[in-house]
Amino acid sequence: MAINESREDIVARVKERADIVQIIGEVVDLKKSGARYLGLCPFHGEKTPSFSVHSGQQFFHCFGCGESGDVFSFMMKYHNLDFPSALKELAAKYSIALPERPRSAEQAKQDQFKKEMYAVSEKAAALYSRYLGTDKAAGARAYLTERGIPKDILTRFGIGYAPSVEGEGWDYFTDKLTESEKKASLEAGLSVKNDRGGVYDRFRDRVLFPIYEISGQVCGFGGRIIGEGQPKYLNSPESRIYNKSKLLLGLYQQKDAIRKKNQAIIVEGNFDLISLVCNGCENVVAPLGTALTREQLRLLKRFCDEIVLLFDGDEAGVKAAVRSVPHFLAEQVSGRVALLPEGHDPDTFVRERGLVAVEELVAGAETLPEFVFGQLVKEYGLTLDGKSKIVEELRPLVKAAASPLQRTVVITHFAEQLGISAEQLDSMLDRSVPPPVEEAPPPPPEPPVMRAVEQIEPLSKSQRRLVEFMVLNPSYLGRLEDGGLRECIAGSVGEVLFLQLRSLIAEHGEIEPEELLSKLPGGAERELVSDLLLEAPDAGDEHEADSLIGAEAEELLEWMRVYRLQRASRQLLDQISGMKTGGDFSLLQELLQKKQNIDRELKGPEL
Ligand code: CTP
Ligand code: MN
Repeated sequence: MAINESREDIVARVKERADIVQIIGEVVDLKKSGARYLGLCPFHGEKTPSFSVHSGQQFFHCFGCGESGDVFSFMMKYHNLDFPSALKELAAKYSIALPERPRSAEQAKQDQFKKEMYAVSEKAAALYSRYLGTDKAAGARAYLTERGIPKDILTRFGIGYAPSVEGEGWDYFTDKLTESEKKASLEAGLSVKNDRGGVYDRFRDRVLFPIYEISGQVCGFGGRIIGEGQPKYLNSPESRIYNKSKLLLGLYQQKDAIRKKNQAIIVEGNFDLISLVCNGCENVVAPLGTALTREQLRLLKRFCDEIVLLFDGDEAGVKAAVRSVPHFLAEQVSGRVALLPEGHDPDTFVRERGLVAVEELVAGAETLPEFVFGQLVKEYGLTLDGKSKIVEELRPLVKAAASPLQRTVVITHFAEQLGISAEQLDSMLDRSVPPPVEEAPPPPPEPPVMRAVEQIEPLSKSQRRLVEFMVLNPSYLGRLEDGGLRECIAGSVGEVLFLQLRSLIAEHGEIEPEELLSKLPGGAERELVSDLLLEAPDAGDEHEADSLIGAEAEELLEWMRVYRLQRASRQLLDQISGMKTGGDFSLLQELLQKKQNIDRELKGPEL
């Protein structure tokens, strides 16, 4: 290997050498069909093959789900690797040497010690799972049988049993370690030191669930007492290899099921997970005794597009679901919630009612925003005061939105539920948090105005033309705004772009469309702008272009005028037809008059 070979060169070399048909063929059954290979797509469930691999161009494409890429993206997506790891695996497979990053001696020592911690955890898992098969573990086996867990599931999850003091003394595991293993074992929390310097086992007389990283390495344990007793669960302490907020119980074993279903169900407990799997509900994971974290969602969303929380129906379950919402928003994963009937957890529920009942519950799960809103209404009611309390509770949720578009979506959704306009909710949320109670009471909230709020809508053809013009000709923004631009694209991604453009211009004066692109966060806004820039025709002769632009602006202003009139007319019609018979007659007359005027204006001047 040339020492000075650049990273790009190496990537290109690996790509050239790697055979995409061979790499994908290892995990997907491929059949040659003409110039390409066909198989069942590993990224979505399907019965007829729409997944094609092209050896000539070295890429894959699925006509079913649209997934496509080269050999690196396949490795990353299928095996859940980041790019460097995909590169490393492929390079190793094709015997291409990668340049070693120089490591400091200290770093090398640290890495080595971590390796020893993993190794000793692996050793513990093997020893404890073997011990579960011995005579002295009969009680533990009986407990697991009573909880309905068959042997194959014990094996799949590597479940073990740590002996009791009566059975094997204080240091059954620790005693089997070399001095250097003992050090690693202490650091991993598998062994603990007592005051007199003696070292003994952390886990005794407990059923042990090894916690695996996605790669399949054991990095920690959760241990349940047999029967009653405290603490019910004893877990590995946080360590260099065990970070419970970044791990999920069951992910390693169930990730293929999750990928196939394109959905993950999150339950709260170890036995909830195992019990569901025993009963045929395979796409499940559980956090490790703590609230769901953002990292866990990030991990999970690599395998599926939807996450369903299957929580207990008690107050704690509801609170846990509500608390997770900001993480869902921040990670832009769609979440739903299903609550179990009071008194049940997923384990007892599936054992009593069976798989179909669980599936029904999951199928009927509410979306997270609906769920949260329902809970808030239950708590505060929909009185004026209730609504303002609800708005306060919504503040952190809206704040967690990952992009302006998402913020708009969230606000629009909740505004509609509250029966106020999106603009109103937006400005209520914008207001700083009310002062603490000792100070003057916060001003009473404005009375909500009932009004239909637009959904986030895809742009119509004309709206898209308008947005395109606005983006490509920012200098016209003021004139368009005066012509009612915002109203014409309200509630769409265009409105978000308009607001961003306006603030950019306020800040920098003139701007170029490309600058807008560079200032936008990822997401729908950015995609739209980059599409628009790509589609934009090349400016030809400058003079000619200027007059064309002017003409287009006139045309758009006219379109906007008509659009707004039509909209106002429609709204008046709604209002009129919504009025009760025998209602306010003079108001009715006034509205009819207004509508007539608008309709006349729409028809144009009479000749
Ligand atoms: N947990 C924990 N430490 C505890 C109690 C609970 O780490 N002292 C974690 C465990 O992972 C447990 C989960 O929180 O599975 C949910 O706790 P809980 O609902 O109390 O227990 P169950 O899962 O129902 O446990 P079991 O069915 O075994 O009684
Ligand atoms: Mn339980």
